[in-house]
Amino acid sequence: MAATTIRLSSYFCCLLLIVQVHSVNRDNFKTCDQSGFCKRHRSLQPGNSPYVVLMDSLKITPTQISVQLLNTKTNVRLIVELFGLQGNTARVKINELEPLKPRYEIPVGDVLVGEPRQQDIKVLDKASSSITLGLENSKIVLTYSPFRIDFISGEEPLVSINAQGLLKFEHFRKKPEAKPEEAAPAEPAEGEEKKEEEVKKEEEGEKKPEEAEESGLWEETFKSFHDPKPNGPASVGIDISYPGFENVYGIPEHAESMALKTTKDTDPYRLFNLDVFEYELYNPMALYGSVPVMWAHNEKSTVGIYWNNAAETWIDISSTTADKNFFSKIADLVKGNTEMAQMDTHWFSESGVIDVFVMLGPRPKDVFKQFAALTGSTELPPLFAISYHQCRWNYNDQEDVKNVDANMDLFDIPFDVIWLDIEHTDGKRYFTWDAHKFPASKDMLDAEGAKGRKMVTIVDPHLKRDDNYKVYADAKSRDLMVKGGNGVEYEGWCWPGSSSWPDFINPDVRNWWASKFQYSEYDGSTPDLFIWNDMNEPSVFNGPEITFHKDVLHHGGFENRDVHNLYGFYVQKATAEGILMRSNNEQRPFVLTRAFFAGSQRFGAVWTGDNMGEWSHLKVSVPMLLTLNLAGITFSGADVGGFFKNPDSELQTRWYQAGAFQPFFRAHAHIDTKRREPYLLPEENRKIVRDAIRLRYTYLPFWYTLFYHGYRSGETVMSPLWVEFPEDKSTFKMDDEYLLGSSLLVKPITDQGATGTTVYFPGRNDVWYDIQTHQSYAGAQNTYINAPLGKIPVFQRGGSIVPRKMRVRRSSSLMSSDPFTLVICLNKQGEAEGDLYADDYKSFAYRSGNYIHREFSFKNNILKSSNADPNGQGSTKEWLEKLVIVGFPKAASSVDMTVDGNSQSLYHNYDSTTRVLTVRKPGVNIAKDFTITIQ
Ligand code: GLC
Repeated sequence: MAATTIRLSSYFCCLLLIVQVHSVNRDNFKTCDQSGFCKRHRSLQPGNSPYVVLMDSLKITPTQISVQLLNTKTNVRLIVELFGLQGNTARVKINELEPLKPRYEIPVGDVLVGEPRQQDIKVLDKASSSITLGLENSKIVLTYSPFRIDFISGEEPLVSINAQGLLKFEHFRKKPEAKPEEAAPAEPAEGEEKKEEEVKKEEEGEKKPEEAEESGLWEETFKSFHDPKPNGPASVGIDISYPGFENVYGIPEHAESMALKTTKDTDPYRLFNLDVFEYELYNPMALYGSVPVMWAHNEKSTVGIYWNNAAETWIDISSTTADKNFFSKIADLVKGNTEMAQMDTHWFSESGVIDVFVMLGPRPKDVFKQFAALTGSTELPPLFAISYHQCRWNYNDQEDVKNVDANMDLFDIPFDVIWLDIEHTDGKRYFTWDAHKFPASKDMLDAEGAKGRKMVTIVDPHLKRDDNYKVYADAKSRDLMVKGGNGVEYEGWCWPGSSSWPDFINPDVRNWWASKFQYSEYDGSTPDLFIWNDMNEPSVFNGPEITFHKDVLHHGGFENRDVHNLYGFYVQKATAEGILMRSNNEQRPFVLTRAFFAGSQRFGAVWTGDNMGEWSHLKVSVPMLLTLNLAGITFSGADVGGFFKNPDSELQTRWYQAGAFQPFFRAHAHIDTKRREPYLLPEENRKIVRDAIRLRYTYLPFWYTLFYHGYRSGETVMSPLWVEFPEDKSTFKMDDEYLLGSSLLVKPITDQGATGTTVYFPGRNDVWYDIQTHQSYAGAQNTYINAPLGKIPVFQRGGSIVPRKMRVRRSSSLMSSDPFTLVICLNKQGEAEGDLYADDYKSFAYRSGNYIHREFSFKNNILKSSNADPNGQGSTKEWLEKLVIVGFPKAASSVDMTVDGNSQSLYHNYDSTTRVLTVRKPGVNIAKDFTITIQ
């Protein structure tokens, strides 16, 4: 949030606040102990479950079974529904049977892309104590007493729900009248009947002795903030275990290692979208976004759950051993005496329902597909969006923009997008321009557009409360803002001072917002302008935990408590829809967001917020981005250079090298930092950084193809090694190196002064080639690699073919007709394969078949290019310029290409030291079938 930087002159009114915000540390954010429901769930002890299954309520349909649960302490009934879903997935929903009023459920179509497609579940066995169901290759066992559900594949138990009996579902109830003398009526003496009224009250959940002891049920106070909790306690929680697993991953966003830690000695991991100033590393505190998805992985399986709940959520993690006794009873499982590891997790949310999707893999790429079937995949970005972005708070005026642009050209540093932060507006009124600094924004945009470049402006969701500000006045007159608990337009402080927030939970408000991006509404905008949504947790400088009060009222009468983690998701969704609409749905939008939820991948990119220009933050960017990728948010990046502080040139250089191999590649800096555009670096660093950015551009065809695969399959773009090498235990916790697709292995240098690093090369039969020197490294071993400042340790896998473009220009769109180079790295058998996806790089024409998808295979010294997808009917000017065949054993006597039955000889040369055979100028259009034969 960077409130330190507010210039006091213009923000005098906020002075007190700033001082408070500046001293932000953990004190501004709740610990579990300061959150009533967190404390209540965390204190539950296993094995004390009050719930019993009411057997005669069991209903079975072909795809679903349902059964009621009775809370024997409160007499309140719950309904459990278990659905079979297509793609080896199941869903378990638990709600009150008869809630006093509907509990919040996320509308289908928003996070879930549609109603999940159901799949038959067969009753395999119905015993007195349990029922066993068959779902594709898996079995589901529902045990009645105590109530639990187990998911089994073959003979392996994979997931258990409520195995510890930590289910707790706080039913809606009427607020007890505050009459102190009536508190806790004495229990009747033996033989004496309870009065009817007392029984009724107990059934309604009032004044149960254990709850009476609990504080915070009907109101809570944190610091000076009072939460009146008009609906009383409504939290839900349950335990989910992974027998046979030692590692769990996911649940971004935390500044944390990729393999999650046990929370025995810390707070649980928290999911509650917050603007955390100067966030700390390696702890479970909440950050800007939340994706409640968790994977467990071992050598045999990958499984996971998605917790479909938008309220504040905490997750405890512990490691234990599996209850072999139980598992040997429900199936023929767990042979032998060896203990089986198990990860236990405990999930609890402040309100809503329990809605758990169980994704049963069995392989990493299966679970990603299963999650994408539920929440969607990353939309194919326009090419400029995966190129290099130049950002800073702020580029001061048009002259500044022009200078940066000119200097980048002067120093031969390509970039695609220059960004404008909040100072570009008229007094933080978004959709406007500061008339002195940006008097002719269209001219500026056109000048960038002429070089194939784009611009991005920031549009935050807070609206300055100024009746002369068109957007605010319009929203106010249409009554579109969120209300405080008192029913009056909510007011809080953010960048513009006193602000209000449109209610993005309301679909009509989202449509209204989307309409603001029409060229007629957003004066001075052009098709070359794209959008950045920030502060959308939302950030409220004077709110509790720097966000909305929990009783803020949204559409449908729901409180922010119910929907909090979705606010930012909807801001980005509405913005992306606006950008789509302004081009009649023809051009792909680009919207960057700071807050996010499951499914945000469909609307654009995410960045990791206000990091610091420190080595530790460079290092943590890798696990943070890996975790985002595992959670479906594949288009993600960290501010290159670090947002706060002044990184020295070494750190900047290393950060650019890392960023060049991360999905979203943007440099950004705080307003108080020294200018640090890459051309300002000392000469040696400048050259290295320029080379790193240019290297990114040479790999754009590879990145683009990777994003295409992700779009089609939901696969990660930046992957932990275990995604490709699922049986290699040594990779399960490895989060300082990663793969791009299956072809590139990246180990960024993240230590000050380092001149080398130990790289783990995975794959017993694999060989890896340094992308710069073509030196080869054998798989399944650690090898020390020299990496002086100019060196980025990146390796291409033997057996892969990677498409590149070697003629780097000022921006990616200027390269769109340029020829390809195929880098063919041979495996031990002398073979390789790969593919290339290409289209117009910007529109939706690919959806009607206007693309090409080529498949390349190299075998018996013949490279063959064929069509990978008959639906791809596109044409292109791009052609094949060069083959670089790495690991080739000897010089060739001839190289011949055959296209359409005609053959021609190609020029070639061989470097026996590097074992690289280079074939020049095949010249064939890349959309054509061809073979190139080497003799
Ligand atoms: C927030 C953003 C940061 C931006 C600043 C001003 O701190 O995270 O990227 O520069 O606000 O808009």
